Amino acid sequence: VNRTVLVIGIGAGDPDHVTVQAIKAINRADVFLVVEKGPDTDELVVLRHLILDRHLEEGRAPRIVALPDPPRDRRSQAYAAAVEDWRAERSRRWGAAIAREVAEGEVGAFLVWGDPAVYDSTLAVLDHILARGEVSFAHEVIPGISSPQALAARHRVPFNRVAGAVQITTGRRLAQGFPADADDVLVMLDATCAFQRFANTDMDIYWGAYVGTADEILVAGPVADVGDEIVRRRAEARERKGWIMDTYLLRRSPPR
Ligand SMILES: C[S@@+](CC[C@H](N)C(=O)[O-])C[C@H]1O[C@@H](n2cnc3c(N)ncnc32)[C@H](O)[C@@H]1O
Repeated sequence: VNRTVLVIGIGAGDPDHVTVQAIKAINRADVFLVVEKGPDTDELVVLRHLILDRHLEEGRAPRIVALPDPPRDRRSQAYAAAVEDWRAERSRRWGAAIAREVAEGEVGAFLVWGDPAVYDSTLAVLDHILARGEVSFAHEVIPGISSPQALAARHRVPFNRVAGAVQITTGRRLAQGFPADADDVLVMLDATCAFQRFANTDMDIYWGAYVGTADEILVAGPVADVGDEIVRRRAEARERKGWIMDTYLLRRSPPR
């Protein structure tokens, strides 16, 4: 095959997160496949377009193809099964789009929020497509600044204390308890402020919403002191903008 698909991490919101390697990759693409998740996240699609406008060299005019995301049943009790169905449908649509839009000899590209290795399904979907064998392509991954990295930089804290272990997890998992063998946890995809259950423990939180963007909000301190403030500011921001993306580092203080 001489069809290529680039998976380009574009950073977590600040256009300056885009690496030199990503800029070079952006300028190799003949076509961008832009995933659209619905009106709530239009702003993210706009940001991707801004990044293209800013970094495309003169004379380059790649095609831009929108890939509407299949609707996802978020109320389903069988969460894992619902995600699996949704991924299968997504992979059928993306496979068809790659076959249709990226000609032999061309380069197609996906712009992935943050880093493609952190809670993002693009690489899994591409593996699915390749496994089905309907379309073949080579693919390359260009890493980006992930939201946990952007968060830690804004709070000027490292992920771990001396020789400590760090876990990256979801709000859903944190709601079941703090991991036994980590002192520091990076929490993503938390719709319910799972940190609240640790309000009576010795934990510090470093929280950030829309990190790297003009709407950025940062709050840090003992969960006992700042937990309520985070819940309140999160709700306000979500109400105002219609959507939210937030991440936090939760750490035992002191480590065990
Ligand atoms: C589907 S994951 C994608 C993560 C992405 N691949 C990354 O490297 O950051 C979406 C979650 O990332 C986090 N997130 C992404 N961008 C963020 C930002 N600018 N500020 C705070 N959290 C962010 C939120 O926890 C959000 O729920």
